[in-house]
Amino acid sequence: PLPLLIAIDGPAASGKGTLARRLADYFHLAHLDTGLTYRAVAHEMLRRGWPLDDAEHAVDAAGQVDLTALDKHALSAHAVADAASKVAVIPEVRRVLVDKQRAFAAQEGGAVIDGRDIGTVVCPDAEVKLFVTASAEVRAGRRLRDIESRGGHAELDEILDDIRRRDERDMGRADSPLRPATDAHLLDTSEMSIEAAFQAARAIVDDAL
Ligand code: C5P
Repeated sequence: PLPLLIAIDGPAASGKGTLARRLADYFHLAHLDTGLTYRAVAHEMLRRGWPLDDAEHAVDAAGQVDLTALDKHALSAHAVADAASKVAVIPEVRRVLVDKQRAFAAQEGGAVIDGRDIGTVVCPDAEVKLFVTASAEVRAGRRLRDIESRGGHAELDEILDDIRRRDERDMGRADSPLRPATDAHLLDTSEMSIEAAFQAARAIVDDAL
């Protein structure tokens, strides 16, 4: 049944990234975090001082995105995530990035791809689709622990506001809004450890093989 394509979607801080990495390791598949491609565009726009709704420059920046050179660390800032959700509403930017993401998905060995529109738009034919959720409060708590474990400091209320604002932008946009594909398996991780979520996801993939 391999090569296998696994599409994972969900809101910010739902745990989809961790899950995607663990599944990719376990099933020996390549992994692409498509959020990094939107972050890379946003990072370039911020660096150049271009307005985030400048579609022409954003499309150019999207064209420059190199999937093999995405620097997770450089793109992790909170301002970059927020800016990413603003450039992500530009349809031409999405078209350019989606082409690159589909090329990655088509590689011989199979892949795990995570984002917001993978099961619905990027890889509608994926063998397995997961839609990972958790309550906004749980997600904010995880994000806070994450920041604190790296020696940082943040306010829970601000993180929660932030997560809600980004959810709204991602679910409310006209082009490729965040929503589960009709054939996606829903995984609510609010009450689950990372290990439990991984075991549940692994069982769903095993079932599909
Ligand atoms: O997943 P991550 O938090 O890195 O994504 C940053 C932003 O990029 C999201 O809030 C969303 O607006 C956008 N994005 C998207 N489609 C994807 C992945 C990310 O619109 N497939």
